[in-house]
Amino acid sequence: VIDIRRVYAETNHFTFDPGFTSTASCESQITFIDGDEGVLLHRGYPIGQLAEQSTFPEVCHLILYGELPSTSELEVFNDTIKQHTLLHTQMDRFFEGFRRDSHPMAMLTATVGGLASFYPGAMDSEDPAERRLNSIRLLAKMPTLCARILKYNLGQKYVDPRNEYSYAENFLNMCFSVSAEDYKVDPAIAKAMDRFFILHADHEQNASTSTVRLAGSSGAHPFAAVAAGVACLWGPSHGGANEACLNMLHQIGSVDRIPEYIEKAKDKNDPFRLMGFGHRVYKNYDPRAKVMRESAHEVLDLLGLKDTPILKVAMELERIALEDEYFIDKKLYPNVDFYSGIILDAIGFPKQMFTVLFSLARTVGWVAQLNEMIDDPTQRIGRPRQIYTGAAKRDYVPIEKR
Ligand code: ACO
Repeated sequence: VIDIRRVYAETNHFTFDPGFTSTASCESQITFIDGDEGVLLHRGYPIGQLAEQSTFPEVCHLILYGELPSTSELEVFNDTIKQHTLLHTQMDRFFEGFRRDSHPMAMLTATVGGLASFYPGAMDSEDPAERRLNSIRLLAKMPTLCARILKYNLGQKYVDPRNEYSYAENFLNMCFSVSAEDYKVDPAIAKAMDRFFILHADHEQNASTSTVRLAGSSGAHPFAAVAAGVACLWGPSHGGANEACLNMLHQIGSVDRIPEYIEKAKDKNDPFRLMGFGHRVYKNYDPRAKVMRESAHEVLDLLGLKDTPILKVAMELERIALEDEYFIDKKLYPNVDFYSGIILDAIGFPKQMFTVLFSLARTVGWVAQLNEMIDDPTQRIGRPRQIYTGAAKRDYVPIEKR
């Protein structure tokens, strides 16, 4: 008997790389990471400089079009975004269909995909103007959609976008305003929100971005491809880590319980991992985590929450883990999600919204990567192969003889 699996394997050679630890899937000009040195550059600019000196719309312009905008370019960019913030009124029907306590990421996955139904022309990836418009549409509508999701969970009326606000201010207002005049956006909180968006804007070929590229490689509607990215981001090994991390910090509860959790994380018979620690690419301190850590201190200081047990637990956990041989050996450092949940919690977002906020910020990266892929003349449909390990060829057995 000829084993066709063996014959196939002998005549077809594939690279076997589970988890794609050493396989580049594309060429890209958007983001550079040196994981050993803890370096992250967008179009050449260090993330620390962008987070300190820039604004999220500037970074969006940079990531999407390759250069930081001039003052007039930024004005046009912001104005264009403001023209597209509203959602079609039919979107209300989507929300009516969800359980009031639905997970926000379930609603986001569905509604981002659902947006495709309002823009069928967006399928025309050959038309650069249409593609440019779709990128703007998504950037503009994501905050409105995400704020609506929060309001739906809370059972409150939606708040319309307001053009006098910046991107981050407008989002905060849509989330926390209940009536027209009741909420005053604090500029320092808006700055922290803006910085959170910058720090999550793009991160080269992570799982969700690769998902967007793979879904888009078949020529799928760009909003559907981004919905696939949202779904991928949801998992606790990826964007869901910020929610999982805050849950973990609450579970630990006090500084004296940290050693117990460190031991659990090291125990190979225990599935528990220290959430917000470790990264596939960074084998050094995640440069985004450095900024996020400072931001957490600033926000908690500002809100008078500096002495909350959560921040103490986080800082002490970081200190102990960074001195522990297990974490040193495996090069496990805090990642961007370690401190982000603390900031979002202090601002007032429910934990379940954290990954939604990550999705909002990452939308620009997803869209830029999708556009870059479509513009690449070498682009082909993504189609990984496999090493087949199932049954050898056999004959069908009628049901009465099985
Ligand atoms: N706690 C304890 N041990 C860990 C942790 C952790 N957080 N992360 C990795 N390890 C250990 C693993 O058990 C493994 O040990 P072993 O070699 O003895 O088997 C080793 O370190 C390597 O881990 P892998 O899972 O193989 O690394 P991978 O690159 O596949 O995973 C990941 C990276 C998913 C981020 C992982 O570190 C993790 O689960 N971290 C916690 C979740 C998290 O914070 N995710 C956010 C990532 S950043 C982002 O998406 C924005």
